[in-house]
Amino acid sequence: MTRCVVVTGAAGLIGQYVVRSATRWAPGWEVRSLSRADLDLTNQGAVEQVWQALNPSAVIHCAALSRTKDCERDPHLARRINVEATTHLACCSAGIPFVFLSSGEVFDGQAGWYRETDDPNPVNVYGQTKLEAEQRVLQNPRHTVVRIVLTAGTSLNGDRSFVEDMSRAATSGKAMTLYGDEFRCPLPAGVIARAVWELVNREASGLYHLGGRDRLSRWEIGQALLAWYPELQGHLIEGASTDHTGAPRPPDLSLNCEKIQALLSFPIPGFREWLQDRMQQEGDLWDYESTLA
Ligand SMILES: NC(=O)c1ccc[n+]([C@@H]2O[C@H](COP(=O)([O-])OP(=O)(O)OC[C@H]3O[C@@H](n4cnc5c(N)ncnc54)[C@H](OP(=O)(O)O)[C@@H]3O)[C@@H](O)[C@H]2O)c1
Repeated sequence: MTRCVVVTGAAGLIGQYVVRSATRWAPGWEVRSLSRADLDLTNQGAVEQVWQALNPSAVIHCAALSRTKDCERDPHLARRINVEATTHLACCSAGIPFVFLSSGEVFDGQAGWYRETDDPNPVNVYGQTKLEAEQRVLQNPRHTVVRIVLTAGTSLNGDRSFVEDMSRAATSGKAMTLYGDEFRCPLPAGVIARAVWELVNREASGLYHLGGRDRLSRWEIGQALLAWYPELQGHLIEGASTDHTGAPRPPDLSLNCEKIQALLSFPIPGFREWLQDRMQQEGDLWDYESTLA
């Protein structure tokens, strides 16, 4: 019998990849994708009705107020979506696997190469809301939290990923300052989608870190993208995080991913190596099929 899996945030960057890649990585599931247009997740009564009607066997929760700036601007809204809606969805999904996408931003970024056992210490509203939601979700031993970091890919409207943001800014003639001392471990959204489906298929519960194998500075990430995005040429400036104004940003969010790697059927790629490999292959750079390093 086909089981139904609900994917929230289905119009978002990662939700889109999760939905599109289901035929490849999760053929046994019937996917019911929910975007904000289908259901406002802060409307608890409406959520309960939809859950009753769909009677899902698993949930992948990708919806969020996901931009640090938006959370800082409206902490109340950030709490409603990231904490309260997530907690309510987890309650509605108490008897089934529930995968919640969280963020490396739960850490202060002082150390880097974080393990799941390391103490979180968020420095901004986004990180605080994600941490609080994680703690609520993990009260259920069947549920799963996956912490990810900078995610590359393309979206329907071309306005979701950092790569799209950079390309758009360069095309409109803007220069971008990329910090040489701020480190992330980026991954393509297609790789994240595949890993999430593997966790769902295995009913793997608990907390997992999922980042690329390379720890790269923002500046190095920009340099790695030049071959694919020639419009960036001449628009990237190397800067230092000491010049940063605005919401605090953790300096180093590299993640130790040994725990999830031990479960996955494929090696988690490094971002630079993944981009180089893609040069040899045909097809779209960010296609969800292209997840093998
Ligand atoms: N992308 C990254 O680099 C990254 C890094 C770390 C963690 N994450 C986490 O991974 C998850 C997916 O990220 P993403 O990049 O795919 O985010 P995204 O592109 O911003 O997608 C999130 C989706 O959630 C929807 N949403 C927001 N509020 C909602 C509500 N009240 N009801 C229903 N839907 C609502 C948004 O709808 P609208 O389009 O209408 O706003 C959007 O389509 C999020 O939990 C995010 O925090 C992402």
